[in-house]
Amino acid sequence: MYDRSAELYDAIYSFKNYEEEATKLNQIIQKRKRSSGNDLLEVACGTGNHVTYLKSHYAVEGLDINERMLRIARKKHPDIVFHRGDMVSFKLNKQFDAITCLFSAIGHLKTKRKLGLAIRNMSRHLKPGGVLVVEPWFTPQQWHRRSVHANFVDKPELKIARMNISKARGRLSVMDMHHLVATPKRVEHFVERLELGLFTKDEYLDAFRGANLETTYDPEGIMGRGLYIGTH
Ligand SMILES: C[S@@+](CC[C@H](N)C(=O)[O-])C[C@H]1O[C@@H](n2cnc3c(N)ncnc32)[C@H](O)[C@@H]1O
Repeated sequence: MYDRSAELYDAIYSFKNYEEEATKLNQIIQKRKRSSGNDLLEVACGTGNHVTYLKSHYAVEGLDINERMLRIARKKHPDIVFHRGDMVSFKLNKQFDAITCLFSAIGHLKTKRKLGLAIRNMSRHLKPGGVLVVEPWFTPQQWHRRSVHANFVDKPELKIARMNISKARGRLSVMDMHHLVATPKRVEHFVERLELGLFTKDEYLDAFRGANLETTYDPEGIMGRGLYIGTH
């Protein structure tokens, strides 16, 4: 997962406005946070793009499962501590005023059981009055099988065409991401399979409530995918 594509991640997702998202996120956190500090943990931080804009407001740390993504994040932010860990089981001897898990990274957990464990684990790392903000993946109702997707990068020395057809296996969304990548050295093709759990709104809310979080759902969120916000 993201191993071959880690170096291409920022180019593929250059359409995302991380600055605007971080501004909205900051407003949401400030509205809901009851603790007085400003320690923030960005879980599944990827290449650290939200960190770029959050670090002027918070004392930020990052965490991700993928070493290649972390390597890129560390290079961008030598001033920030990044941990390698699984959101289901990481254990830092520290509690935070805010924990964020964005761009549907939570969907990488394929079962309701793991969803519950991850929300509880993140909640355990919150100070009393701290806030957990999770941007969900699609619900089973929102997932359209057989829809066709493409994403193109057209830079002078890097061309990418990434395509997939949305598939599903039970409550799992399955995407075989075909990458065609051209650099001055070569043109290569590789496929990366992404499998993400399709959880209902009630399943997300149950997971939050099971972690003793006072929870609300914002259907718009920071980029139209919705947001679950829980205060400890
Ligand atoms: C779609 S990317 C989102 C990255 C970043 N949050 C962003 O907005 O660009 C999903 C990230 O989740 C990470 N990830 C997947 N499963 C994880 C897990 N169990 N624990 C921690 N990180 C995980 C991946 O390595 C990847 O960096």
